[in-house]
Amino acid sequence: MSLSPAAHLPDKFIIESPELRAAVESNTPIRFFPSGEPYIPLPAPHSQFYLGCERQSDLPGDDKMMNDLRLMHQLAGPPFPNPIVNAQRHLVRQRAAVQALFAGYASGKWKPAPSSPFDVVREIKEDGSEAYVGQVTFGVDEHTKRTTPVPEGLEEWRIEAVCEIGAVLNLEYHNRGIASAAVRTILNDWAFPQMGATEIHAGCFQSNISSAKLWEKHGFVEVPELRGSYKVPEVKGGGEEATFTLVWRLQN
Ligand SMILES: CC(C)(COP(=O)(O)OP(=O)(O)OC[C@H]1O[C@@H](n2cnc3c(N)ncnc32)[C@H](O)[C@@H]1OP(=O)(O)O)[C@@H](O)C(=O)NCCC(=O)NCCS
Repeated sequence: MSLSPAAHLPDKFIIESPELRAAVESNTPIRFFPSGEPYIPLPAPHSQFYLGCERQSDLPGDDKMMNDLRLMHQLAGPPFPNPIVNAQRHLVRQRAAVQALFAGYASGKWKPAPSSPFDVVREIKEDGSEAYVGQVTFGVDEHTKRTTPVPEGLEEWRIEAVCEIGAVLNLEYHNRGIASAAVRTILNDWAFPQMGATEIHAGCFQSNISSAKLWEKHGFVEVPELRGSYKVPEVKGGGEEATFTLVWRLQN
């Protein structure tokens, strides 16, 4: 058995300093559990769900979801089967991202936030236990070209680079509005006001009705010039899927 590249990390990322927690709460939508772990709440009627940072204890849930063919047949990116080391590396990257974010806050740098480490959706059950629901990933994508120039007259700190968003939830949580609530929170509370996003891309297969609806209801519009196709690996069923990209643009 090989050692996890994340083996050295504690389960949770914690902020001990009450002064830093208070400063973060007054400058950002981030809130803290009594343990000092940061999170971003989802609004009612989804307030038993929240966006948190990846934990060691998320790895089994993450690994199980990323190896569920009923979900993965909709996604072009991840390999299938997806080795657990990918979830472990993701934890290492996300832990480094949240550490960098809070190091910036500790030195008084509030905007733009360099990343979105709040990518895990969890549910708090009535008995206080928690369940891994899925992921909403958001980040800067330096390799993708903008489809339109940055609108004039925006605040200086906003970023020109394209951002990318994606979502995947465990099957038992589908079609209950949870992805919509999580995506709305990432866009309205984080992507625009904290990271300064000005153009966001979301890609999906044309056959993926729930995904297309999810992006369209949040103001994403399909750009015909960005249509493409994807050769589905045999292990995922084979064949070809038409792909499209939906784009959200900040208007001034
Ligand atoms: C895409 C995904 C994240 C949506 O999650 P979700 O929590 O079920 O989404 P919501 O409940 O917020 O629903 C979003 C929209 O899709 C619709 N929808 C959800 N499941 C649906 C289904 N099985 N069939 C048709 N429409 C569906 C909802 O009705 C809603 O549209 P509406 O507001 O117009 O009614 C989820 O289906 C998933 O994890 N799919 C596998 C991974 C994937 O395809 N990711 C997208 C590519 S990035």
